[in-house]
Amino acid sequence: MSTVTIKNSGKVQEVAEGTTLLAALQAAGVPIECTCETTKKHDPCHLFVLEGKKGLSKLKSPESDWLDAMVGVGSKSRFACQCVINGTENVTVELLGALSG
Ligand code: FES
Repeated sequence: MSTVTIKNSGKVQEVAEGTTLLAALQAAGVPIECTCETTKKHDPCHLFVLEGKKGLSKLKSPESDWLDAMVGVGSKSRFACQCVINGTENVTVELLGALSG
């Protein structure tokens, strides 16, 4: 088990290894959705991983390609639907845009 802490709200969600970050946030009550298949826009699940980067699956294609094509990304940027909790570290994220509260 790992925890995902949402900096914006202070909520902490326990999650099992193999859970996506998206599912972890949804379990914490965050109204976040994956729109990869519907709109082909990925910004709805863009967030910053503040701590515990190693607790997530590595950044790889196609996520890295989508980040490269997006404006406003930083070194801490990830897409929640593409990250899988690996159970090695707890994770702290910062929600962006409309989800930031
Ligand atoms: S919605 Fe496309 S990367 Fe998450």
